[in-house]
Amino acid sequence: TTGVTTLDPGFVNTASCTSEITFIDGDEGILRYRGYPIEQLAEKSTFIEVAYLLIYGELPTAEELESFTSKLTRRMLLDERMRELFRCFPRGAHPMGVLAAGVMALGAFNRDYLDPHNPEHVEEASFRLLGSMPTLAAYAYKSSVGEPFLYPQTGLGYVENYLRLSFGYPTEDYEIKPEVVRAFETLFILHADHEQNASTSTVRLVGSADANIYASVSSGVNALSGPLHGGANQAVLEMLRKISSYGMDIKEFVAKVKDKESGVKLMGFGHRVYKNYDPRAKIIKGHADTLLRQSGKNNHLLEMALELEDTALHDDYFISRKLYPNVDFYTGLIYEAMGFPAQHFTALFALGRLPGWIAQWREEHDNPKRKIGRPRQIYTGPARRDYLPLAER
Ligand code: SDX
Repeated sequence: TTGVTTLDPGFVNTASCTSEITFIDGDEGILRYRGYPIEQLAEKSTFIEVAYLLIYGELPTAEELESFTSKLTRRMLLDERMRELFRCFPRGAHPMGVLAAGVMALGAFNRDYLDPHNPEHVEEASFRLLGSMPTLAAYAYKSSVGEPFLYPQTGLGYVENYLRLSFGYPTEDYEIKPEVVRAFETLFILHADHEQNASTSTVRLVGSADANIYASVSSGVNALSGPLHGGANQAVLEMLRKISSYGMDIKEFVAKVKDKESGVKLMGFGHRVYKNYDPRAKIIKGHADTLLRQSGKNNHLLEMALELEDTALHDDYFISRKLYPNVDFYTGLIYEAMGFPAQHFTALFALGRLPGWIAQWREEHDNPKRKIGRPRQIYTGPARRDYLPLAER
């Protein structure tokens, strides 16, 4: 039924779990959420609808979608005392650290709904996380630029609220641009889940110890912050800026990457699973092209990214290693054109990945044969030896 016919023993041995949520074929560049191709969801669905699909396994009816959306929107409002949390951080604090702390604080303010074995608590915590995390991310941004916080508006949609909380001002109306909203709906959908990546596996592992969902998601935020994982979207923009500021030409930079001594990586390229073009990168590239050409911003960096991709895709070093653009290669260009500073890009990745983390945490908990995650190891240290007194060392 999953289209997966044979699993080679090697694959089965490395598989950390079974899951019904997301299917990836890395060789063919296929990604499906609950059986639906990512290309169709990115084009036709909304982020909240995809969040529902990932968590409950089916696309919602109109009534289910309306009820789910209102539960989340009502929970975008934070406890007033949570605003103080942002003032405790220095202005230059990395937003992923603020977000991880904010998620833990959210759990503390909702401590009556923490029991991982109580379905009502899990539902409430899922709504609370999905509703409040955009507000946490927006306040982390506003706090970093010293601007006042806004309150979410029940009349606005989920993405619209997030954009207004991030870029709106109490002194003026915020103009909602449909093309920007659509771009963010698509970007969040593309990030929503990706089977057992480092941060999702972290959420499952922490959850397997019966830690509550806030503690598990906060751990996922920390795992995602790594530049080899979700932090790559920030690293790609910093890489492009560095090439531009040093006046390096693309061929010179690619030569540096191929000279392994330099330790320079082509950020936004390569993947543990995709040994083909990441289907998400293909879709994002189209949006980047449209939005950036429309906005007139970042064209120089977009041209550089396009030249970098073209050079790498025709270079045997990358072809022989099956290195293709991944989800992070073009996202930063769009985020920056929308007004986000590079430091905030990975927080946007976390907002997109949140429904996947929740769905996978719940799947872990719903598994009747669940055991606490306990990876084993191959010991390669010293053989048994006796203690040496200090005088003899
Ligand atoms: C995400 O798992 C997921 O699903 C993650 C993610 C998700 O949605 O959750 O898709 C999101 O994390 C995407 C990846 C974002 N990271 C980056 O873009 C950072 C740059 N990429 C890499 O560091 C790297 O490609 C990884 C970490 C993503 C994957 O690394 P692997 O699988 O460990 O790579 P590998 O060791 O198998 O590489 C094989 C060869 C090596 O060279 P040789 O030793 O064979 O000579 O390819 C080289 C590597 O040095 N290589 C790169 C490279 N990535 C691998 N060389 C230059 N630039 C790169 N980016």
